[in-house]
Amino acid sequence: MVFLSSRHEVAHEVEFPLGPRQSRKPDLRALLRWWRAPLWLLALGTAAKSFADNPILGSEALNRRGLHVARLKLAHALAWSRRRRLAPAVPAEWREQFDRDGFVEVRDFLPQARFEQLRKALLTAELDSRQQQQGDAITRRVPIGPALLAGIPELRDMLAGKSWRSLLAYVASTRAEPLYYVQTVVCGHAPGGPDPQLELHADTFHPSLKAWLFLTDVTGDRGPLTFVPGSHRLTPGRIAWEHARSVAIAGSDRLSQRGSLRIAPEELPALDLPPPKRFAVPANTLVVIDTCGFHARGSSDEPTVRAEIWAYARRTPFVPWTGLDPLSIPPLAIRRAQWLPPIVDTLDRLGLRKQHWHPGGRKRPIDP
Ligand SMILES: [Fe+2]
Repeated sequence: MVFLSSRHEVAHEVEFPLGPRQSRKPDLRALLRWWRAPLWLLALGTAAKSFADNPILGSEALNRRGLHVARLKLAHALAWSRRRRLAPAVPAEWREQFDRDGFVEVRDFLPQARFEQLRKALLTAELDSRQQQQGDAITRRVPIGPALLAGIPELRDMLAGKSWRSLLAYVASTRAEPLYYVQTVVCGHAPGGPDPQLELHADTFHPSLKAWLFLTDVTGDRGPLTFVPGSHRLTPGRIAWEHARSVAIAGSDRLSQRGSLRIAPEELPALDLPPPKRFAVPANTLVVIDTCGFHARGSSDEPTVRAEIWAYARRTPFVPWTGLDPLSIPPLAIRRAQWLPPIVDTLDRLGLRKQHWHPGGRKRPIDP
């Protein structure tokens, strides 16, 4: 659920939970918060990741005793057990690359003529979009729904293709349908502060998927995706780092407190990790990553526009099965991305959730 769950990427003003060190003067409001305690407890068995929104997840005492690490270990063990069952459908070369690096890069993913048809159809279409600005970068998204699929058979065939589906399912560790968007990333065209996506981070504590089929060339100096090879693996070093971060989370930056732990490049050697790889790749390259690995958007030296087909899948991590996802029923699955923005708009009006994706107008994906 991108518009719902992309909050890991967006700014939220939140109150950090009242821990023992912050609650010297408990007031009535603070006490009344605890009516939600059963919900916080139930959230332990879900993908909930925000230390800041759930005092149980954010508890220094519980995390010191291993709460965060226990969720991390169970989520990764289940993900790899699901992947073992999904593996036979994936070409060995892709599987080996993913198991080693945490990403798969496939150049010339589509036959060239087919790709050119797809690119032409998508980049010249004027499409209703939503957008979000972070720092000086604007991300614009157009949900891929039934109308777009009907109008562009190359797109429909690609998303239904066996190699696409089996690879994405393996990396996501689930056969749940991803959400699909035509995405444009515009860097340096709008005034703004530093882009928080430039900081290396893990999206969440458990394996999940993001994928890009680039419709434009991405050069190394123009905001490419970067990923730290091997950082998807739950090594003893990573576990120790996660434990330390979870215990000291009250002193961390806001996005780490919300469950997307930031890491400084200088910390990577201590975790036996190399510097990030920059995906400076030509159009028609597919890049699929596990977003519990450390990744970021590379910096951009000049104003740039990048367009891509973007996929996202994040399912609750604590299930042993690979299917059984009610939202993956075909008529629902392909409409979810279109339904989410109005649902979040309504929640925003009711004061229940902040909508960060605003109408971006009717534009071609290649427009700045
Ligand atoms: Fe991310």
